[in-house]
Parts: sequence; C-alpha cells; structure tokens
Amino acid sequence: MMVRVADVDLYVVDRGSGHPVLLVHGFPLDHSMWDGTIERLARQDGYRVIAPDLRGFGRSSGPNQSKLTMAQLADDLAELLDALKVRQPVTFCGLSMGGYIAWQFWKRHPNRLERLVLCDTRAAADSPEAAQVRLQTAEEVLEQGTAHIAASMVPRLFSERTRREKPQLVEKIQNAMVSTRPETMAAALRGLAEREDFTEYLGRIDVPSLVVCGQYDAISPVDEMRGIAEAMPRARFRVIEGAGHMAPAEDPETFCRVLEEFLATADQRPPPSN
Ligand code: MLT
Repeated sequence: MMVRVADVDLYVVDRGSGHPVLLVHGFPLDHSMWDGTIERLARQDGYRVIAPDLRGFGRSSGPNQSKLTMAQLADDLAELLDALKVRQPVTFCGLSMGGYIAWQFWKRHPNRLERLVLCDTRAAADSPEAAQVRLQTAEEVLEQGTAHIAASMVPRLFSERTRREKPQLVEKIQNAMVSTRPETMAAALRGLAEREDFTEYLGRIDVPSLVVCGQYDAISPVDEMRGIAEAMPRARFRVIEGAGHMAPAEDPETFCRVLEEFLATADQRPPPSN
C-alpha cells in the first residue's frame, strides 16, 4: 500500500500483528530484498512486519531533493510509524544503508526503539577518498544511468556460493538496482558520502541488539562487524555461514532462525533511569 509521509508517498508492506519489526533495505534496493524474511516472519504469531521502500526507491515517490541524508530517511520512518499508528517501540532491522539509518533512528527517535538488528553494515563514516568516489559516481549515474553501477556492485554483494547456486536471486537484486531512478541513486550517494561516524556512539547504544554478518561480506567484513558488536553493551553477534553482504536475502532460512531467536529471547529495554 502507499502511505503519505511528509512530502512523498512511501510504498510499504505491512503484514501480521503484534510486536512491530521494521525492515529497512540497503542501497540501491527496495523492500523486496526482504521477501524471504517477510514471508517467514509474517507466518509466526506475534509480529507485525513493516517493510517500506525508502523515499525515492522502489515504488515510493521522490526524491524531491539532490541529497538524501541518513537523518532524513530515519525521520521518514518515524513518520511512517505515526501514519501506520504504530505506537509501541519497534525492532529496527536494517541492512547496510539500512544500518546507517538505524544509527540515526537510535539518535533521533530513541523512544520509538526497542531493539536493533544490524545486518552487514558499518559504524564508520566513509574515508575522504571513498566519499569522493561516491560523489563522482553520483555524477556518472546521472549521465550514464544505473546499469553500470549495478553491474559493478553485484560481485561485491554476494558470496561465490550464492552467485553459483542462486542466480535468480542475483538477477532479482540486480534488476532492483538497475530500476532505481538515477536521481535517487545520485541523491543517496551524496547522503552516504557525508554520513556521520557512529563508532564513538557504540558504547552508549544500550538497547538489546543483534549484529549479523555474512561470512564472506566484502563491504562490511566479519572482523569489523564483530568489533561493532563488542563495542555495544547489549549486542550479540552472529555470522551467516556461506553468505556475503546480502546475507538475509542469500540465506533467509538461517537469518530468520537467528532473528526469531533474538526476538524471542532479547530482554526488553530497561525502564528509563532518572
Ligand atoms: C548497501 O548495501 O546499502 C551499500 O553497500 C552501502 C554502502 O555503499 O556503503
């Protein structure tokens, strides 16, 4: 369904009832990367699964600006929850760019957050060189379209095994990337290039958290993600064997098992101390 949020219409899948689990996709994708998770989680009693296409991505409208910041995308999600009348704090589950948005959600909307699930993401900002490459890529995408960047990203997104055994998944994700509007891709690249460094905040993020990484993730490697989990006071860390950067999409069975175990056993956040 489409939901009006601020100045855009967001497409959102909203299934089941119970504790709200917000699934936030990576760059430059849409909610369909979570199809395997949505299907499995919605079958369980007790969860409301909410999986939007972020502003400008998938079937959502926008972007209405030349830069999409992680803060704005986090604010859109808080407004989306208002529009859907979700009053209770959510489990925010984000992959990669979805994780960068999760950090901002924690900072800007702490009362709406019960737990965090950080999949194949980073806490560090881009190096100046990496940021420069993103800005250059933004210009290239506007001039040449999205096919080139999609083709260059695919080998880094999946493990060798996934590429060999799940060509339809690889094709589906590549198609989602190619069909992203060049204006959205460029605006998101500019926002990604200037995203905030969260490494200094990690020790203060005290909601129950699950940090998940594909064994062969080439973008947010296992050692880096383990370091994120170790720096967070209430995080547990899980590796999805045989998967790459798109671990939840590459192996939704294992990912959902790990997610459901976390949802069933993680403590709720403690009452605020004053
Ligand atoms: C993603 O999967 O969201 C991207 O790889 C994030 C990034 O480019 O840093």
